[in-house]
Amino acid sequence: MSSVRLSRIVLVGFMGAGKSSVGRALAERLGWRFVDADDAVEETVGLPVPEIFRRHGEDAFREWEAETVDEILSERCVVVATGGGWAAREGRLNTLPEGTVSVWLRVSAEEAVRRTRDDVVERPLLGVDDPMGRARALLRARKPRYAEATLGVDTEGRTVDDVTARICRMLAETGWEIDAP
Ligand code: S3P
Repeated sequence: MSSVRLSRIVLVGFMGAGKSSVGRALAERLGWRFVDADDAVEETVGLPVPEIFRRHGEDAFREWEAETVDEILSERCVVVATGGGWAAREGRLNTLPEGTVSVWLRVSAEEAVRRTRDDVVERPLLGVDDPMGRARALLRARKPRYAEATLGVDTEGRTVDDVTARICRMLAETGWEIDAP
């Protein structure tokens, strides 16, 4: 029986779930490359995310984001932290290239708002009069899509190292062969 070779890990979940911190730690443990999709979009477009939203609008951001993640997913031995809206589009998690595992980092709207409070400028979708109401509505709408991820892990009350270790344990339990660079 041939085993599955795991070559890419895609982290999904709401803003403040810890995708970038966990992604960086996970990549380090595996000896893989880490890419933050928001940073990659900023590099391509030459503008910070909030400025892209302001000048070009959310739809344009989503197109750049989709193209950027597709490009990253053509690589091997890569962990990608997607922006919170990427996996919210229909079909995203069902059409990943072979050898890709998706992991949903779960966080409540309350905890997400608490974690991102000091960084709200970076997150235009929460830069509104009622960030909690917006976070709750967005998360409710997105949850069914996030739930399509292969694996899920709770992040509340857990450190980055703990979440990372749990993901490694879950990966080991799958029995998949981890690709080496
Ligand atoms: C967004 C999340 C952000 C960023 C953009 C939109 C979203 O990324 O892509 O502000 O729609 O949830 P993080 O999840 O890394 O904060």
